[in-house]
Amino acid sequence: MTPQLSRRAVDAPASPIRRLVPHADAARSRGIYVHHLNIGQPDISTSSTMRAAYRAYSEEVVAYSPSQGTASLRSALASYCATNQLHGAMPPVTADQILVTVGGSEALLFAVAAACDPGDAILVAEPYYTNYHGFAHLLGCGVVPMVTSAAEGFAVRAERVAAALASNPQIRAFVVPSPGNPTGAVLSHDDLVAIGGICKMFGVFFVVDEVYREFVYRDDLRGGVAPSVLAVPGLEQVAVVIDSVSKRYSACGARVGCLVTRNPAFYAACLKFAQARLSPPTVDQFAAEAAVRTPAAEMLANIAAYRARRDVVVTGLNAIEGVSCPQPDGAFYLVADLPVVDAEAFCRFLLDEFDLDGETVMLAPAEGFYSTPGAGRHQVRVAYVLDIPALRRCLVILAAALKAWAARG
Ligand SMILES: Cc1ncc(COP(=O)(O)O)c(C=O)c1O
Repeated sequence: MTPQLSRRAVDAPASPIRRLVPHADAARSRGIYVHHLNIGQPDISTSSTMRAAYRAYSEEVVAYSPSQGTASLRSALASYCATNQLHGAMPPVTADQILVTVGGSEALLFAVAAACDPGDAILVAEPYYTNYHGFAHLLGCGVVPMVTSAAEGFAVRAERVAAALASNPQIRAFVVPSPGNPTGAVLSHDDLVAIGGICKMFGVFFVVDEVYREFVYRDDLRGGVAPSVLAVPGLEQVAVVIDSVSKRYSACGARVGCLVTRNPAFYAACLKFAQARLSPPTVDQFAAEAAVRTPAAEMLANIAAYRARRDVVVTGLNAIEGVSCPQPDGAFYLVADLPVVDAEAFCRFLLDEFDLDGETVMLAPAEGFYSTPGAGRHQVRVAYVLDIPALRRCLVILAAALKAWAARG
């Protein structure tokens, strides 16, 4: 008898970011050059100190590390937090409040697992990072979407968090990225205070995914980083931070992230999960420790590069007839409204049928970033992870493709 897959396996959501990959492969095999604006894989060089560390690694045995990560990486991360003004009036986080994980992804999985039992739910601000759904699903938990809108710059409103928590006692955590993927929206310190207070009132964990923390393009932000929930007093039992080297140091393949919490019971639960998978990657932790020493000038140059790209893409998109997008304040994504009924069909057309002088563009249909049926059908997520000449070319290709699509009726 053929064994049956679990219902969980059958129902697992496919990644909307990767779903069109076979179409891109087919386009490439026809000789078409595909510009990738669909995935947050930056073209920016990995941190120089990190690359040097990989070259210098010389241990005879690549051994397991402690399950919570090496002591030296955890203290390097604690000093990163201290020097990047994440604490405000709060005492600095210590190395034993930091748990090193296999990317920010594993930190998210542990955080949802520590907060929720099967049948519980997480609250997310829609459109949301799709893997929040993937991790909740894996753990037998639901996702409750809370609406945000392009007209409001995808701002997350505290009163909507309160209404969602009041109406659904199954919700055990509010999981939100700041700066946001896919929207680029950034929570202010006042937002964090207000939403954190609401989570505390309802006895719900406030999981803030800060993996894009450095990538903020607002001059009014203290220290040039997005406000951190670690700086909000009174949330010690409630706040959990997700962090990663993937984006900050342009090292997505290094697979090192961390979870930060001042709640000792939450930490102890996550450590038990971490012990079951034995160890985060040892060589990558060695490199991640070096990444914390990336020269400030290098970081600033990368941030300036993303900001310039954002300006080109936002201006260029809004100049195309029928296209609109709000200006994101951070990360390297935006959600754009297109003059199409079905953005996924248009994205497939870009790969299956269209090219401009042998080139096309791959975008992520935004519908998969929503749980509300039908929401985001006319939207795409754009990741501005290519250099400016390539981005300008993508804008020309997109404008031509929209004309061709409209002409098809
Ligand atoms: C908002 C957000 N959180 C977490 C992650 C996970 O990143 P990683 O597992 O590479 O650290 C990503 C990756 O794109 C992301 O966009």
